[in-house]
Amino acid sequence: MVTMRDVAERAEVSISTVSHVVNATRPVSDHVTVRVRQAMDDLGYQRNLLARGLRRGQTLAIGMIVPDSVNPFFAEVARGIEDTGFAQGYTVILCNSGGDLDRELLYINKLVERQVDGIIFVAAGLSSERICEMQERRVPVVVVDRDLFGVPAAVDSVLVDNEKGGWCATQHLLDLGHRRIACITGPSDLTPSAERVTGYRRALNAADVTVDEAMVVRGDFQYESGFMAALRLLNLQEPPTAIFACNDLMAMGAIRAAVTKGRSVPGDLSIVGFDDVRLAAFTNPALTTVAQPKFEMGELAASLLVERIEGADTNARRYLMDTHLVVRESTAPIG
Ligand code: RIB
Repeated sequence: MVTMRDVAERAEVSISTVSHVVNATRPVSDHVTVRVRQAMDDLGYQRNLLARGLRRGQTLAIGMIVPDSVNPFFAEVARGIEDTGFAQGYTVILCNSGGDLDRELLYINKLVERQVDGIIFVAAGLSSERICEMQERRVPVVVVDRDLFGVPAAVDSVLVDNEKGGWCATQHLLDLGHRRIACITGPSDLTPSAERVTGYRRALNAADVTVDEAMVVRGDFQYESGFMAALRLLNLQEPPTAIFACNDLMAMGAIRAAVTKGRSVPGDLSIVGFDDVRLAAFTNPALTTVAQPKFEMGELAASLLVERIEGADTNARRYLMDTHLVVRESTAPIG
């Protein structure tokens, strides 16, 4: 089945643009419209009217569950989901679980009771068993950011190369001459943080730098944990000259801790984050970080879910999107 995503790739436009051309929901320039229609002709795209007709009795709503709606990473992913869902005629219902599993399960039941057409789990905490139950209840599901092992065959996932990102962050600091490089981890039982720490360890091992476990400190992806972890690291007898924090909020907390201790960033301490939320370019100093394609993750997840809702029954599709280092002002060669 040729999908809107196929047409978007062929015409080199976003899925939302294809949908606006198909549904006339928003004006599109003539030259882009021609490109999209040409791609539709080339691919033989037919609007899946039957599925849309089947859906007529549906709610044309999709649910999205995130663990922390005030974390700008999830806000930017949610924007990609909502923009893409809206462009294809869906209402998107945002649920914030606060990382509480019981609340997550409560939301799942409420969304299913309201007969949403599908659910997107972003950084889900729930077990794969619950996902299996959803499948049995024939509720299409897509998972984002967290690798849920053991989920049934028809669950699509949108992930990023966290290990490469952790390696790039650490290699950047090594290239600047740092050797006492600390790591502030996220919740280590969750795949994204664990994979980033693996990349950190791989880079140090390859440079024959022994990992000092006293310099691997656990955080929880919140500003405060980055602040406290950095204070602890700076109080070490031999403090680090650089810190890799497994997300931007903790990196921002670490910058604040350095200032509190009278250290300059990057003069006394280089700091790298992970996510590249929009705020990262406006901190002082602007944060060097590893960028995730946040909006595009949401866009892809929403389009995969709509394809499932409209009848795609392929095996699980697993996408590993790329990360890349963005060098700003919070890192510098060792003093
Ligand atoms: O900032 C929140 C973090 O949790 C991000 O790095 C994202 O990958 C999620 O795992």
